[in-house]
Amino acid sequence: MMPRLRDKNQVRQWIEKGKKLPLATQNYPSRGQTAIQELYQTKIGKLFLKKVSQRNHQECQIDPKSGTLAEREYWAFCLASFLQLKVPELILLDSLTTVQIWFDLPDGRQYTTAQKPLELQGDNVFNCALFDWLTAQVDRHDANYLYDFVKQEIILIDSGHAFLKYNGSLPDYLRIFEAAYIHELHRKRASTLLDRINKCSRDQLEKLVPLWNVEEKNALLDRQQQLKNRDTIADIIQLYRKG
Ligand SMILES: Nc1ncnc2c1ncn2[C@@H]1O[C@H](COP(=O)(O)OP(=O)(O)O)[C@@H](O)[C@H]1O
Ligand SMILES: [Mg+2]
Repeated sequence: MMPRLRDKNQVRQWIEKGKKLPLATQNYPSRGQTAIQELYQTKIGKLFLKKVSQRNHQECQIDPKSGTLAEREYWAFCLASFLQLKVPELILLDSLTTVQIWFDLPDGRQYTTAQKPLELQGDNVFNCALFDWLTAQVDRHDANYLYDFVKQEIILIDSGHAFLKYNGSLPDYLRIFEAAYIHELHRKRASTLLDRINKCSRDQLEKLVPLWNVEEKNALLDRQQQLKNRDTIADIIQLYRKG
């Protein structure tokens, strides 16, 4: 499928002509961290706009000069698309604002609260874990992935807390997988996503994720190397525990 969010002005126009939908932000544990969040019904479907504030960066001790949360979320999207990991398409409108396609799916927290525990697919979990390790994602709680309950697959969203120089924290879905799928932890997995990570050249990686902070740039290259020869979910969990 061709990307739909390519032209900033066109996206702005779709939003201007769209209808703003109600979006609960208060008394809603998984929402409301990012300063401005708006959902619009537009001619191409629902679009979700997020604008981060200075305070969002202060709270997370991120220097916006080295890449704002919005820019980091956009770079994560660019890398995910390049690696062919399914995530909602996203565009950067300005250095603080992203717009993305809204999927009509619950996040992990909504699903487990209203329905039942997640049923997971090992190959999907492995690919998400590869991506979260590579990008040093530090905020993968259960409201930062959607749950496709038909395919029983998770879809990563809100990947802005990434590409920092410290290592990622263990993603919530790995905790679930480790507890509920013990017999699958050591199963060897052939992943075309891992092949693409391995084949991605330094130049290509730097183009997709244009970090200028040398420590952050080197941390990303190191994490790419650390994924060599990892072919089980237990291998990825071990990376986290060693870090
Ligand atoms: N593309 C999307 N499709 C469907 N729901 C989404 C999407 N992006 C975010 N959400 C929902 O909105 C919530 C808040 O969005 P998120 O990007 O996590 O913002 P925040 O930075 O405030 O944590 C998510 O926990 C999820 O429930
Ligand atoms: Mg979030």
